[in-house]
Amino acid sequence: MNLGASGVVLIFICQSISGQAVVKNEGDQVSFCPKTIFEPIISLKWMHKDTSGKTKVIEWDSRNPEYFSIPNPRYKEISSLDVEIGELTLKNVSVDHSGEYIFELNGQYWDTFSLTVISKVGKSITVWIFLAIILVLIAGCAFCWIRKIC
Ligand SMILES: *[C@@H]1O[C@H](CO)[C@@H](O)[C@H](O)[C@H]1NC(C)=O
Repeated sequence: MNLGASGVVLIFICQSISGQAVVKNEGDQVSFCPKTIFEPIISLKWMHKDTSGKTKVIEWDSRNPEYFSIPNPRYKEISSLDVEIGELTLKNVSVDHSGEYIFELNGQYWDTFSLTVISKVGKSITVWIFLAIILVLIAGCAFCWIRKIC
């Protein structure tokens, strides 16, 4: 009964569901919570895969529990790992954190997540283009109205 209750709690704690594509803005925080682990946790590893290849994000081994291996500077300051449930949290994500996140439990594949990070620059360009189009439409209407041709 207790297990069922904690399972329900986990669903609410975890922000993402396995297999779901997560979309975030630059600077956001994201967490990937793997499907429930029932076997003893010996080692945990998260890999990031994108068009430029595969990179190790974070690795942990129960035989050296204080140590988290984060070899790539891209993940150094922003990654944390919940060793009870395997949940990976990335703070302050940027566009180059987009891609697939592959989780390995005890040296074996366990789960995958997909992340897309939208850049703030890209977003503001979209907003400016939209505003420019509106402005042109308004100017066009005003012109027509003044000339009384529409
Ligand atoms: C977030 O990351 C950017 C680079 O991607 C960096 O310039 C900025 O200082 C970081 N912000 C925080 C609060 O860590």
